[in-house]
Order: sequence, then C-alpha cells, then structure tokens
Amino acid sequence: MFKKLFSPIKINNCEIPNRLAVTAMVANYCNENGTATDKYIAYHEAKANGGWGLIITEDYAVNQHAMGYKFISGLWNDGQIESHKRLTDTIHKYDSKIFCQIYHAGRQSNSFVNGGKPPVAPSSIPCPWLREIPKELTIPEIEQIVNDFGDCALRAKKAGFDGIEIHAAHGYLIAQFMSPYVNKRTDKYGGSFDNRTRFIKEIYENVRGKVGKEFPVIIRFSALEDVPGGRDLSESRILAKQFEEWGFDALNVSCSVYGDHSRQIVSPMYVPHAWQADLAAEIKSLVNIPVFTVNRINDPKMAESLLEAGKADVIGMGRGSLADPDLPNKAKAGDFDSIRLCIACLQGCVGALYEGGPINCLVNPSLGREWELDYSKVADPKKVFIAGGGPGGMEAARAAALKGHNVSLYEKRDFLGGQFKSAAYPPCKGELATYTTWLINELNKLGVTIFLNTNLTKDVVLVEKPDVVIVATGGTPLVPPIKGIEKSNVLAAEDVLLGKVPTGDRIVVAGGGEVGSETAAHLGMEQKEVTIVEMMPAICRDLDGVNKYYLKKVLNEYEVNINVSTKVVEILDDGVVVENSKGTFTIPADTVVMALGYKPYNKLVAEMEAVHNNVVVVGGALKTSNAMIAAREGFNAGISIA
Ligand SMILES: Cc1cc2nc3c(=O)[nH]c(=O)nc-3n(C[C@H](O)[C@H](O)[C@H](O)COP(=O)(O)O)c2cc1C
Ligand code: SF4
Repeated sequence: MFKKLFSPIKINNCEIPNRLAVTAMVANYCNENGTATDKYIAYHEAKANGGWGLIITEDYAVNQHAMGYKFISGLWNDGQIESHKRLTDTIHKYDSKIFCQIYHAGRQSNSFVNGGKPPVAPSSIPCPWLREIPKELTIPEIEQIVNDFGDCALRAKKAGFDGIEIHAAHGYLIAQFMSPYVNKRTDKYGGSFDNRTRFIKEIYENVRGKVGKEFPVIIRFSALEDVPGGRDLSESRILAKQFEEWGFDALNVSCSVYGDHSRQIVSPMYVPHAWQADLAAEIKSLVNIPVFTVNRINDPKMAESLLEAGKADVIGMGRGSLADPDLPNKAKAGDFDSIRLCIACLQGCVGALYEGGPINCLVNPSLGREWELDYSKVADPKKVFIAGGGPGGMEAARAAALKGHNVSLYEKRDFLGGQFKSAAYPPCKGELATYTTWLINELNKLGVTIFLNTNLTKDVVLVEKPDVVIVATGGTPLVPPIKGIEKSNVLAAEDVLLGKVPTGDRIVVAGGGEVGSETAAHLGMEQKEVTIVEMMPAICRDLDGVNKYYLKKVLNEYEVNINVSTKVVEILDDGVVVENSKGTFTIPADTVVMALGYKPYNKLVAEMEAVHNNVVVVGGALKTSNAMIAAREGFNAGISIA
C-alpha cells in the first residue's frame, strides 16, 4: 500500500528513514531557562519509538528575549547544550532523525514571556493577537540577532541534532522582515524584495559559516500570509529559488501569520484536508531540493496519495503526532483501525498554548505524561465497573483495561459516545466520530465487557461486588422554568442532531452557545428557517476565536437569524415570545430547540456511595466541563487503579 511513505530520503548528508516528519510544535514543557525537562524528552521519545522518520523540535529561542512562550527551549548559551544533548541521545536510540528549529518571535511575543523586555520587530506595529507595541530594531541590534542565529545553530550541532530548521514562517521575526505587511523600514532592511530578504540571507550565511557545508540546514516559510498586504505566492516562488541558490537543503512550505482569519497556521476542522499541498507542489516544481507539505494531513493513506501525486517529498504532521505518536508504525503494520486521528478541534494543543499552558490533546489524554505513565499490568487485577459510555467512561475503561483490570462498562442508551456522538453531526464536525470509533475499537480489543441499554444500579453492585466503581454519567440538559417549556413542540438539541425527532420548517433555537449555534447551523443546512435566541450579548462566547469565526460563517451562509441580549419569555404552539431592549415580541416557530447548557447528571453518585466505599466521579457528572476534561479525568481514574 505504501510505495512512497516508507522510502528513505536524503537531506544534505542526513538519511531520513521515511517521509513522515513531525513538524515543529511548541509544547511549553521545558524549564523557564530553556533547558529540556524529562517530560519534554519523553514526549519526543514517544514519537521516535512510534516510527517518525524526522522529528523537528519546537522553536528554540536564539537569545534570551526571542521567546514567544514562557516554557520553550533555547540554545542561547553553552550551559543549555547538555540537557538538549540528552534529548538527541535519546532519539538516536531509534531510527528517527531530529532537527532543531531555531527562531526569534519578534513582535509575536510580549514582555511577560521575555523577562520584562518589550518585543522587537522591523517596525513598531503590534501583532494583532499579542497587541504590545514592539521596539523597532536598530542596525546593530539586527546584526546581533543575525549572529545569535549562527551561534544557536552551532550549539544545536554540538547538542547532537542532525540538522536545523530556520523558522522564517508564521509571522515570526524573519517573516516580519520579509513581509511588507510588517516591514515598513526605509533602510537596507526594508522596501524592496532584496532589502526585505537581506536579514534571512545574512542569517543563512552566518549559520552556514558556523555549522559547515555538510550539516543539514532547512528553512520553513509561509507560501502565503493570507492577510491584507501580506506576502503572497508570487514572492514565495522567487524566495524558494533563492533559498535553493543560497544553499538551503530543503524547503518546509507552510502558511499564514498570527491574526490571519482564514485558514490559519494550525487549521481547524472547517478547513479542507491538506489545503497547503498545492502550494508546496508549486514550490516543488521550481526547485530540486526536498519540499515538505503540512496542515490538516492526519491520515497515512492521505499522506501516501500526496506523495504519489507529486505534491511534496516529505509529509509533515504536527497534530497527527500529538493525537497518535505511533501513527507511522501502525500504518506500516497496516493496523489502520488502531490509529487515533487528530480531529482538528484545536482544543488541547493550541487551545492550551494560547492560555499559556502546556499542550495536551482531546483524543490523547496521555500526551505530556509519557514520562510518568506506567502501563505495566498490575499483579492483582481488580473488578472495575463504570457507569456511562461517553469519552470519560470509555477512557476510564480503556486505561483500566490496559493495566490488566477486569472492566465492565454500563451505558443506559443504545450507543457509546455520549454527547460526543451528536457533536459530530453539525457541519464540518464529522471527524469527531473517529475518536468514538477508535475508543469502541480499543475497548473491544482490550476485552472490556460492554452493556448497552443497561443502567448500573446498586443492586448490580451489591451482587457483583466490584472493587472500584467509576461514575461517568456526564451532564443532562438544563431545563429552566420557562412558561410553555413542556409543550410537544419543544425538543432537545441532542435529539434533533441525532435525527430522533423531526422538526418543523421554522425553528427557534434557545441558547447560542456552541451546541445551540452548531445545531442552528445543522438545521440551516437542512434549509430550515432558523433563529437563535441568546441571552448574552454574543453567541459562542466559550468557543475559541478560530472555530467561532468559521461557525459564524456557516450560520451566515445559511441565513440563520441571530438575536443576542434576548430572553425567551414564553413558548407558544406557533412561536416564541422573547424580550430584549426593543421590547417584547413573538418569533413565529413551529419547533423550539433547547440548547441552554448542561448540569451534572450525578444522581448515581449517592446511590453508589451508599453501597460502596470506592466510588470515583469523573467528567460532566462531577462538574460541567467538556469532552477533553472528561477524557482526561476518565483516563486518570482508570490508569491509577492499583
Ligand atoms: C501546539 C502547536 C504548536 C506549534 N508550534 C510551532 C512551532 O514552534 N514552529 C512551527 O514552525 N510551527 C508550529 N506549529 C505549526 C505546526 O508545525 C503545523 O504546521 C500545524 O500544526 C499544521 O499542521 P498539522 O495539521 O499537521 O498539525 C505548531 C502547531 C501546534 C498545534
Ligand atoms: S487537541 Fe484536537 S486539534 Fe489538537 S492534536 Fe488533539 S485532536 Fe488534534
């Protein structure tokens, strides 16, 4: 099946065993002084063990004030080399090669992460996300940074890396110099194309001079910036040819900058798979060095087809490696069902990062915990009963079964997945189903006994005497005391999404949170006339900016009406009475869909605690949360049963 994916490729003198590369990703797992932690090393080791041909590290700061996040790596002094040598020594126990990405964040940073110093940039224009006015660099400061890149590259070589990647993409300092979007200078570093690319040229020459001809030096750049006035493909074609001419050994073609509204550096599930591949293909047609493509490629068969189509020479997967570090080995073995695919939710990885925390992953609760998790089987297996078959309950069952316990999972409905099942129904959310399918498959392989249409009761517990009971019963919809809420035209969002109940043609969705807005989009796509009524001043308040942007686009495209700061007063047989600053009025509707949030469904807790002394409650049954928290708590509960 894989004629290309598992064939080797040479970058300069370095032979990479296959075409699957982990692209650079900030994990925020390092010490504040830029040195590597055990957590950071084990996280990378899991990928080497999983068979990735090339691992490109997160972006290493070239000087103390080059950081974009607080806990990223750095090689700005010799004292940092030893801890990163431990990383490369670990990776070299496997077949994988490891390149170090080096960078300066420029204006896409803030003083908080850089020891109180303001960010720097070619011109004093703040990053639209970070919003701090950067200091315009002087010529001596530019020369110092050029030198810092070279010194950092040399330290990376000394630390045992197999190559380096210069990060000139995504709107960081080098990209800022290259782009008329940010670079408004009128000295030798601004204005013309040659002036704007002078900084990267000097950096390349400095780096090459220090690491030598034989050492792989590759570059990552954005083929498009996707912002008004940003760099476009026309310049990127010229750039690519120049990069090859100067002596770069490969081109890693990416896209975008911070603040780009459309397809994003890290694309959400609303964006087509592999959308950057055509850009890589165009660049590839112009050069003779290897070209990488990336973004929304989460499946090895898709990766192979891109190679076969000649779009690129190496397939980069960032999030695919977070979701499943073993993806290459599983693909090679033809074990596709066991691959846990990234669903492009943005929740655990970039979501956590933007809040300043370490990355995690919705579908992989062990991410970042590789260093501390022990999967060895227990000597004395326990009988574990779990109530609730959503992500929390299923992860609890999986983890407990991995440890060798005898696990039974009770689900009162006729399907597994909980609310995560219906969450896959709205537009562009279909990939969510892959996680549920994966969990079911794993539970079957691990021999978990699954009871559908079955409540776990105290009578069952009294008779069967399990050692541990885990309650993962999730949440139940909030039903506020609205006049008319008991009417037959009032339906729950989940039932509507699952197609359990038909709706009329004119629908009011009460509640404009994520569930309400997505349900409205789903109904809009069914060509229904839909109106959202939301009490708060905006819809989707808890959703991240990127997903919100796309969801609003779908709502707009399907002409969903939105009333914010509006309260539902009464439900009638043929409409909904609402109230806002304009007064009280009736929106005609034959169906009203309730999406007003959830509260913990935990009545089983007291019942279980009355008959058992080892009851653990996880996920939405404990506190209204989300699938990622539920999966993590479930996994933790299962894995820690001794
Ligand atoms: C958590 C996270 C951190 C990232 N950090 C970096 C980085 O340090 N350097 C970089 O060049 N790209 C970074 N990226 C972008 C990825 O390398 C990759 O281009 C992007 O995630 C799209 O590819 P994917 O769909 O395979 O994840 C990051 C992505 C994620 C998810
Ligand atoms: S958190 Fe979501 S987007 Fe990020 S790696 Fe995991 S599944 Fe993919």
